[in-house]
Amino acid sequence: MAEQGKSTDEKIDAVREGYESTLSWRVTRPLRSISDAARRLRGRETEIPWAEVMVEEKVEPDWTSWLDTFFGEELERIDAACAETPPEEAWQLFRGLGDDLWAVLLTREYDLYPNIKALLPGAPEPGLQWMWNGATGLELLGQSKNFYARVRELNERHGRAPLDQARILDFGCGWGRLTRFFARDAMPDRLFGCDPTPEILEVCAETGVPGELRQTGFLPERLPFENLDLAFSFSVFTHISEAAHEACLKAIHAALAPGGLAVITVRPPAYLDHDPLMEAARAELSDDFASREMKEPRFIFVPHPVEDGHPQYDEGEMTYGDTVISLPYIEENWTGLFEIVETGFLTGDMYQVPIALKKR
Ligand SMILES: C[S@@+](CC[C@H](N)C(=O)[O-])C[C@H]1O[C@@H](n2cnc3c(N)ncnc32)[C@H](O)[C@@H]1O
Repeated sequence: MAEQGKSTDEKIDAVREGYESTLSWRVTRPLRSISDAARRLRGRETEIPWAEVMVEEKVEPDWTSWLDTFFGEELERIDAACAETPPEEAWQLFRGLGDDLWAVLLTREYDLYPNIKALLPGAPEPGLQWMWNGATGLELLGQSKNFYARVRELNERHGRAPLDQARILDFGCGWGRLTRFFARDAMPDRLFGCDPTPEILEVCAETGVPGELRQTGFLPERLPFENLDLAFSFSVFTHISEAAHEACLKAIHAALAPGGLAVITVRPPAYLDHDPLMEAARAELSDDFASREMKEPRFIFVPHPVEDGHPQYDEGEMTYGDTVISLPYIEENWTGLFEIVETGFLTGDMYQVPIALKKR
């Protein structure tokens, strides 16, 4: 039969051709143009055990028909206005839209509205998203939108300025996943981001993340920003050492205006059972750690192995890994600088607990 007559190379080619013609490959192919900075980060994966990941080829929706069917007229109007509005002002055109629609527009995974797509930033390829956030596509989109919505709510309840007048910082911004959500609220000259990893800031620049993005230290003494109304930090204090967390907290505090709001996520006690990397730390605790020990002030940090290629390894002591902080620790150690105004959780990711803090 024809199959038996084929050489190994021909068989492999046939499999590849079949695969490339699947919807999944076609849908994700536009994301495959990996920037140099992203390639350098991804190239390190093999050296970093925690980052050994398989990114499944998922079929993510092409949102064209959803957008056209339900919001066509409104989006055509915004698209036309985008063409005539200077980019720094065009972001405001999206202010009245619901959060879910805004999240879908930010994917740029649709074939309509060229002027909207020209304004909005691109996303790095799924492998890098996975490496940075442990999720991709629709799952990650939902998590991002939920956190954005929560910060907006918290700012309404406890903030010192409405978002459209606020100076906003994304602390540990990564590839600007969350920064971009706030770009319709804060004009680009009031939107800031920082991260100590230069390559990920290059990815931000290459994909066109709006706002002023700056590199800061792993143990920052000061931030290059001041008079902020709002600072948020998602999945950063869940990863840093006690010394780094102390430096970061003080630096955020100093950059906020009096009464400014910080929203910082931490890992809850249950994370100790969830992540195999926490096994050693978990073994040192009693069985009822969640109900008893985590009611004590505790800061549990398990550093990643020191590797020269690790994107968050600078030199000296490793400040990056996995971190669980108990609420009593926060009450004991953070309340000299901040008042805890609200805690809660996010059903989209129960291992990121947002703590809202007001600068004293
Ligand atoms: C898990 S990623 C989350 C990125 C982004 N906040 C998001 O949610 O998409 C953690 C980020 O924290 C940054 N980071 C690591 N150590 C930091 C430190 N000491 N200060 C600020 N950011 C830090 C990393 O470079 C990385 O971009």
